[in-house]
Amino acid sequence: MKIRVLGSAAGGGFPQWNCNCLNCDGVRKGTIQAVSRTQSSIAVSDDGVDWLLVNASPDVLMQIRANPVLQPARAVRDTGIAAVLLMDAQIDHVTGLLMLRERGSPLPLYATQEVLADLSQALPLTRVLGHYCGVDARPLALDGAALSIAPLRDTSLLPIPLLSKAPPYSSHREDPHPGDNIGLMLHDAASGARVFYAPGLGHMTDAVEEAMRQADVLLVDGTCWSDDEMITLGLSKKTTHMMGHLPQSGPGGMIEVLDRMPARRKILIHINNSNPILREDSRERAELAAHGIEVAFDGMEIDL
Ligand code: MLT
Ligand code: MN
Ligand code: ZN
Repeated sequence: MKIRVLGSAAGGGFPQWNCNCLNCDGVRKGTIQAVSRTQSSIAVSDDGVDWLLVNASPDVLMQIRANPVLQPARAVRDTGIAAVLLMDAQIDHVTGLLMLRERGSPLPLYATQEVLADLSQALPLTRVLGHYCGVDARPLALDGAALSIAPLRDTSLLPIPLLSKAPPYSSHREDPHPGDNIGLMLHDAASGARVFYAPGLGHMTDAVEEAMRQADVLLVDGTCWSDDEMITLGLSKKTTHMMGHLPQSGPGGMIEVLDRMPARRKILIHINNSNPILREDSRERAELAAHGIEVAFDGMEIDL
């Protein structure tokens, strides 16, 4: 199994277009030690030619350009993106679907019934795409069974319901349903390796705890360092928890969770532009390193 991190930032990206926080202003001006990042997405492949795109970020075209491995050029019109799977219906994970409309055949799209409902009603991307390439919607069941998805031959996927948040536009925003957000356990039968991916993880549950314990590699929610980060910086009135994310620091935070996990790699992904861990020389980044925790960057490759 090969994983390519296409976008390691949370919604808004880094720097965010309208933000002049210390991080965004600093990376724009080159005055801090940090690299820019696009919005949340990974690609998974077994053969390195055909890929499952997990989340379609609004930055997907830039991400495809930055990762030529996604364009095998076997025909005059071609793509290495064989199918798309969505973790939720958040803007930063779905709006890139519109950018894939020039496909020659309906796009195989895997998502839960809840996410497919949002994408046919409140934000009707699948209906809009019906006027272009069309979507071949394949509902993901949350019955505890792992599934095989072409083009992956060795790697199976187990969707696990997460406690996080449906998007602000969704009728489920304050009325959570299992299926609004999922995590994914990727299991490569050839190498035996397991990767747990959850870019939006608001609360630990027994099922998530168990999945995380089994994983060799954890690729999990790194949105904010502290619960009041966005409030303290004057960027938002919402806590990290209210947005459906588990902060890294403090009691019950992601550092504590990762400390008890046996995984050989622990990587934070979906990093918000306000997060001090983006500054490579920050105290918070050093604290992560002391706990053996990495910070994903665009173009990061994980081969298992
Ligand atoms: C989130 O992860 O909380 C959302 O993607 C935020 C957003 O809509 O940009
Ligand atoms: Mn997000
Ligand atoms: Zn910012």
